[in-house]
Amino acid sequence: MSDPIVMMKQEVGKAAAARVKSDSIVGLGTGSTTAYAIQYIGERLQSGELKNIVGVTTSFQAEVLARKYNIPLSTLDVVDRIDIAIDGADEVDPQKNLIKGGGAAHTQEKIVDSLAEQFIVVVDGGKLVDKLGSTFLLPVEVIPKAVVPVMRKLEQLGGKPELRMGVKKAGPVVTDQGNLVIDVKFDSIDDPATLEKTINNIPGVLENGLFVGVTDVVLVGEIIDNKPVVR
Ligand code: A5P
Repeated sequence: MSDPIVMMKQEVGKAAAARVKSDSIVGLGTGSTTAYAIQYIGERLQSGELKNIVGVTTSFQAEVLARKYNIPLSTLDVVDRIDIAIDGADEVDPQKNLIKGGGAAHTQEKIVDSLAEQFIVVVDGGKLVDKLGSTFLLPVEVIPKAVVPVMRKLEQLGGKPELRMGVKKAGPVVTDQGNLVIDVKFDSIDDPATLEKTINNIPGVLENGLFVGVTDVVLVGEIIDNKPVVR
């Protein structure tokens, strides 16, 4: 039998892909859940059910997948709008604010997702939290020369920062932009909107993973009676 988590990600990805209409410019997010949305958008295009779709990717990973599923691509230099964007998240609060960046792609994701007329988030139920920061560290992309001063500033803000290290690589994770990622533990993120701006105001910070007031729809996958359900 298939892994229920995989089945759930497939269902929620499919549900998001089903919301894409012909003649749309689609923001293609990053991560293991969005990967299924990209796959199903590609399949709908190949079957002729969808026509005239252009994708704008948020990472190297999304671009590779979009090419694999034959989704025509463009860039923000060329398109004048994003009609719909689909992306995953690491945490979602009751106001639909997010922490993103588990895949170190939050900078490009925020650019594309925040431009979208409709931004759809695809997650499993385990990502829902009462307060952001309860289960996931907050990713902050920084230019390499600024790592130490930015860490000091993050400590002054009450955070516990650590440089993200590679898993199958000696040394730190390098983003698609050639920068580094600091993951920060905050005991409690009471005011995500203010924290998002405060962190982005530290010299050397490119972008942090707080997405406040950007999300329109959250599709949540759950397993009920051993079956994947999307709500
Ligand atoms: C990428 O940097 C992230 O923002 C992802 O969108 C997020 O980590 C969700 O990924 P999964 O769907 O793999 O959990």
